[in-house]
Amino acid sequence: MSSEELRSEARAIAGSLRALLQQLVDTGADALPSEPAAARRQAQAGAQGSPDPRRAEEPRPATVAPTRAPKPPFAPSTPSPTRREAHGEARALPVVGHAPEITLDHPVEREVGLARLGALEQLVAGCQACALHQGRTQTVFARGTPVTELMFVGEGPGAEEDAQGLPFVGKAGQLLDRMIAAMGYAPDEIYVANVVKCRPPSNRKPEPPEMQACEGYLHEQIAIVRPKVIVALGATACEGLLKVSGITRLRGTWRLYRGAIPVMPTFHPAYLLRTPEAKRDVWSDLQQVMAKLGKAPPPRRG
Ligand code: URA
Repeated sequence: MSSEELRSEARAIAGSLRALLQQLVDTGADALPSEPAAARRQAQAGAQGSPDPRRAEEPRPATVAPTRAPKPPFAPSTPSPTRREAHGEARALPVVGHAPEITLDHPVEREVGLARLGALEQLVAGCQACALHQGRTQTVFARGTPVTELMFVGEGPGAEEDAQGLPFVGKAGQLLDRMIAAMGYAPDEIYVANVVKCRPPSNRKPEPPEMQACEGYLHEQIAIVRPKVIVALGATACEGLLKVSGITRLRGTWRLYRGAIPVMPTFHPAYLLRTPEAKRDVWSDLQQVMAKLGKAPPPRRG
């Protein structure tokens, strides 16, 4: 395929993507026809318990399971609570979106995928699908590389992310980068995105309608990147990706995103800033991820 043909295909895909997402926004649709039935069944099978509209309490240090995992190689940081971490009873949440097939392992697919991500980022930049757009400085789309086996998904931008337009650039992000380095990856070797792309007021947890309004965007990002593993950082990421809540119970157990992509739920780095003793649990979760990806940890310095 010539580069002109490639560009024209990318333009066509960007156009259809724009139309598709506009349709999502316009109709508030809760499912698109191409969503695989098996994936929907899996999401429903993974959900347990009854709906609980209350915001769950943040896990307290005393409730963290006794730590038997080895000491984590990412250094302790000064606790600096900026975000709330939710957990509680498992409950089912609605599924939105579709799963187009695309991978980035072929050069042409890569070009098309990158063009689609570029178009999607522009679409997100103009999104007014929920009230969060009113308080944002800018949208926060992603950082890292879309050509990767490993994706991290967080909750939503905080103040620093809203100011810089990039996810995980505040204190929690610095800890996330140390976790990623401990796994043997550079920050530009992985892909990082959030459930919602606009900062919630006072860093509150995003409301379900806000998460639903953004869901098609995250899904499209995942469908384009198609990582081999997703790490779900905290309760909101688990709710957004897996439609299940209860991070304390979920963490460390493999799940599937829409029947297709393995997800490892773990605690959010902001929670670790407040609860450093939970880092051992997170390190044990990340070691499971490394084992699945056949990744050896880098030699420890000092
Ligand atoms: N917390 C998140 O969940 N995402 C960010 O981008 C920053 C902090």
